Amino acid sequence: MMGKDLLSVADLTADDIRSLLDHAQGMIGNRGSQLEGKTVALLFEKPSLRTRVSFEVAARHLGGDSLFLPSAEVGVGTREPVSHVAWVLSRYVDGLVVRTFAQSTVEELAQHASIPVINGLSDHEHPCQALADILTIRQKKGKLAGLTLAFVGDANNVARSLLLASARVGINFHLAAPQAYAMDGNIVSQARSAAATGGSRLLFTQDAREAVAGADVVYTDVWTSMGQEAESVQRRKDFSAYQVDAGLLSAAPRAIFMHPLPAHLGEEVAPDVLEGPQSVVFDQAENRLHIQKAVLARLLSGTRTGERA
Ligand code: CP
Ligand code: NVA
Repeated sequence: MMGKDLLSVADLTADDIRSLLDHAQGMIGNRGSQLEGKTVALLFEKPSLRTRVSFEVAARHLGGDSLFLPSAEVGVGTREPVSHVAWVLSRYVDGLVVRTFAQSTVEELAQHASIPVINGLSDHEHPCQALADILTIRQKKGKLAGLTLAFVGDANNVARSLLLASARVGINFHLAAPQAYAMDGNIVSQARSAAATGGSRLLFTQDAREAVAGADVVYTDVWTSMGQEAESVQRRKDFSAYQVDAGLLSAAPRAIFMHPLPAHLGEEVAPDVLEGPQSVVFDQAENRLHIQKAVLARLLSGTRTGERA
């Protein structure tokens, strides 16, 4: 059973994930009233198109309302302590979606808030993206267990959440990354233990072709994530052998190509792959809306603000 918050894929069991996917699939094209009278606040330290719009629209589809709060204006941790922001927002709104740099900020907000807190991307994880990705894979391939997903590039927030989610639902996960950008050991051990239960195989390599050969899903994300812009020249050099282009994708002719977007075209992905026949990136973006409706309905429908009665 899901707890109060969604901060990491580690907060979810395989059954939680499957049940969210079923719930999301059933709500495609439907409206609901699970959030009637409720407001979701979005507290964002970084820019966004998909996460912001899909959460705001999801709240409206469920009969609720939303409020966008640029973090710089609120001054989280600068104008006032994180705990005070959490206590005050808990009096006004019914749920909080947070996009931060430090994972510790979203964790601290959740620790102090009486309302559900959802990680809308941190430097460490992007759990809502991973759920939308798994939903997309199930729609396109008709199953999850036994498939092989090859992630090529930086072992970043998107890769961490996707690895943890894949391991839980029985998807074999291959990661090809330069040694200096490999998956952190803590996530690898969490994933290994989930994979042992979920029945999936994990492969960590520096060889993109080895990872991609015969895969069902080829996935990449930017080499320079938000907040790492000062490293972009070095990163372009370090990742130059990891672009997903037509040549690399030819090693996985049956694969769908996935990317969370926004893409840095000509870096991690060639334009003809991103917009090519194997690409499902816009269905993937659409699924953010469907899965987040399920997440909001699950976490918020039974809760109320800490407003005094
Ligand atoms: N994929 C994703 O989270 O996109 P945004 O940064 O535009 O929200
Ligand atoms: N890894 C990227 C994902 C954007 C959705 C970033 O953090 O910038």
